[in-house]
Amino acid sequence: MRISSLLTLTSALLMAPTAVSAAGRLGFTLGPQRPDGSCKEQRDFEEDFDAIKAQSGSTLVRSFSSSDCNIAQTILPAAKAKDFQVMLAVWPDTEESFQKDKQALQKYATEEFAKQLYGVIVGSEVFYRGNFTGEQLLDKINDIKRILPKGVKCGPADTWNKLADGTADAVIRGGADLFLVNGFAYWQAQPITNASATYFYDMASAIAHIQTVAGGPDKTPEIFGGETGWPSKGGTNYGPAEASDENAATYFSQSVCGMLTWGVNLFYFSAMDEPGKPDSVGENGQSANEKHWGAMTADRKAKYDLSCK
Ligand SMILES: *[C@@H]1O[C@H](CO)[C@@H](O)[C@H](O)[C@H]1NC(C)=O
Ligand SMILES: *[C@@H]1O[C@H](CO)[C@@H](O)[C@H](O)[C@H]1NC(C)=O
Repeated sequence: MRISSLLTLTSALLMAPTAVSAAGRLGFTLGPQRPDGSCKEQRDFEEDFDAIKAQSGSTLVRSFSSSDCNIAQTILPAAKAKDFQVMLAVWPDTEESFQKDKQALQKYATEEFAKQLYGVIVGSEVFYRGNFTGEQLLDKINDIKRILPKGVKCGPADTWNKLADGTADAVIRGGADLFLVNGFAYWQAQPITNASATYFYDMASAIAHIQTVAGGPDKTPEIFGGETGWPSKGGTNYGPAEASDENAATYFSQSVCGMLTWGVNLFYFSAMDEPGKPDSVGENGQSANEKHWGAMTADRKAKYDLSCK
């Protein structure tokens, strides 16, 4: 690992005085469906939360929508019952999906759940896909921000390179108060031996740029690693990035626990295997199996040590 050299390079930028000794907060991405594809209900989320907390100590999850499977309605009461916090999301890509998620938030993200709703992500990798300019997404973020209970943060999730190269600057200057930075050494076709160096480089690049545009660490909005992870056995290899249980465990302990030690909050993709998830097509044009990215199996058993101890 090259943590110490990167730490020297960027520690002045990264560490606000208040955050010197704090370890980052770990969260997990969580899907709205049971392994059989049916929609989770409140009690399913409660069981998810029990397993996540028991295995990792985490009390934070994020979703990719607010309306899929009626997730805002079911997950917020579950979070209240189990003392969890949640980030919900809005899919702004079409007017229809934007309105569906917005209406779900208006209906269910009420003051009653203001403590459970940590934030709302507006847009997942829209800059990576080239769908919006910074100004266009900022309008959507401000639209959602207006309907949220006071104190609930709001901002975009995008790939590290798009948050580092200026594409998102209008959103940073516009005052979004939450940024999620996605970084996958796996999708950068890195061998596991260079995976944590790559993840640290990705995160440091995005964080440094956001801090610079925001005008310094004390003016910087809250930043989380939005998604990172590594597939275990059964997943697809991506060039030199090989899916295996051993590599997934190594990635978790070196890259995920390492980044938390560095003081950065992050979400691991994903909490559990999703057997119903369709294959995706990678940048190499080949179909990739996305069913085996869970830190836990579909029946909620940890695949490796998730305690970061
Ligand atoms: C977003 O971008 C992708 C890739 O360029 C494109 O296929 C898709 O149609 C776009 N969606 C919208 C809503 O513009
Ligand atoms: C390892 O990762 C670093 C950071 O992303 C990169 O600059 C370097 O080229 C990588 N090394 C190899 C051998 O791919």
